[in-house]
Amino acid sequence: MSVITHIEDLRVLAQRRVPRMFYDYADSGSWTEGTYRANESDFQKIKLRQRVLVDMDHRSTATTMIGQDVAMPVALAPTGLTGMQHADGEILAARAAEAFGVPFTLSTMSICSIEDVASHTSQPFWFQLYVMKDRGFIERLIERAKAARCSALVLTADLQILGQRHKDLKNGLSAPPKPTLANLINLATKPRWCLGMLGTKRRQFGNIVGHVSGVENMGSLSEWTAKQFDPCLSWDDVQWIKSLWGGKLIIKGIMDVEDARLAADSGADALIVSNHGGRQLDGAPSSISALPPIVDAVGDRIEVWMDGGIRSGQDVLKAWALGARGTMIGRPFLYGLGALGEAGVTKVLEILHRELDLTMAFCGHTRLDQVGKDILLPGTLPA
Ligand code: FNR
Repeated sequence: MSVITHIEDLRVLAQRRVPRMFYDYADSGSWTEGTYRANESDFQKIKLRQRVLVDMDHRSTATTMIGQDVAMPVALAPTGLTGMQHADGEILAARAAEAFGVPFTLSTMSICSIEDVASHTSQPFWFQLYVMKDRGFIERLIERAKAARCSALVLTADLQILGQRHKDLKNGLSAPPKPTLANLINLATKPRWCLGMLGTKRRQFGNIVGHVSGVENMGSLSEWTAKQFDPCLSWDDVQWIKSLWGGKLIIKGIMDVEDARLAADSGADALIVSNHGGRQLDGAPSSISALPPIVDAVGDRIEVWMDGGIRSGQDVLKAWALGARGTMIGRPFLYGLGALGEAGVTKVLEILHRELDLTMAFCGHTRLDQVGKDILLPGTLPA
């Protein structure tokens, strides 16, 4: 591919370069994938109001997320197995985010460990927590995130149990891939990926190997998750986690106004309207359509962000106009990483930034704090 101009170009390139098992892991949703698709298509339904003959010089997309300066209201979402999209993927993505001036979030289920990422970056990053039954392990994980100077904890609230993703089950998803005939044939067509993996020792779940039993011989990711993750997690545990952590806390995976109120009551600093990129409850509404009532209910008490379906800077601007004071991207940065490594993640951020900046200007504004719901055509908004 000669010139990369939008996120879709990177998706196509990633599909060519990343082994099928890991590409499918990124580019899939649960069951019918209806919610996954709605996350993207509902953004398309919202139309922008074009304004003309407004001074558009001297523009800025800078803002803050939980008090942290950001070049634009976009953070890299926590994604498991990122180091399987590209060797050392979490380190590369964290470095690209740091250089661009946006936050990077490391997943509990990452390949590179908290310590790996900390030793290859100079700015604090965020750590995402999945709560497992072994609470001693969770306490130690939080201590490790503190020792690595992580500046926020993102508690994922929507994955106590795992939504079924057909492709992962059919592909026998595991890290590293098992040496089956199908995998070996597929790997033979992905020389860049194989060379990268030969050059790194980071091929298993870095935060977990050596700390939780059974991870070395994991049958499939879904079976292992079902055994380890705590289905009993509740709002009481949020207070326990808050007291262990003692820093900025973000609750991710809120789709309902009642849950948003509980998140605000919990004293968290931000909540993320998210359906996990359509990977958990298939049949849930798109994140962008769930956002407005949540902003109306709690937007004055807690920072409300959203993720799911953002594929352009236009989408970021629409989310902002509907009240999201931050967004996260998952698949877009994974496509960039799988396609071109660190340069690919940088490319994704550049594309989103340029699209956000130009779209804001076409709507007649030069700064995000001027942008409100009035840039959207009323009849096209989520009900
Ligand atoms: C995720 N997501 C996720 N969320 C989380 O809290 N912890 C995790 O480990 C993961 N892992 C993960 C892996 C992959 C491959 C994907 C695509 C997603 C969900 C993620 O943080 C985010 O909510 C969605 O990716 C947002 O939707 P988009 O941007 O991918 O459409």
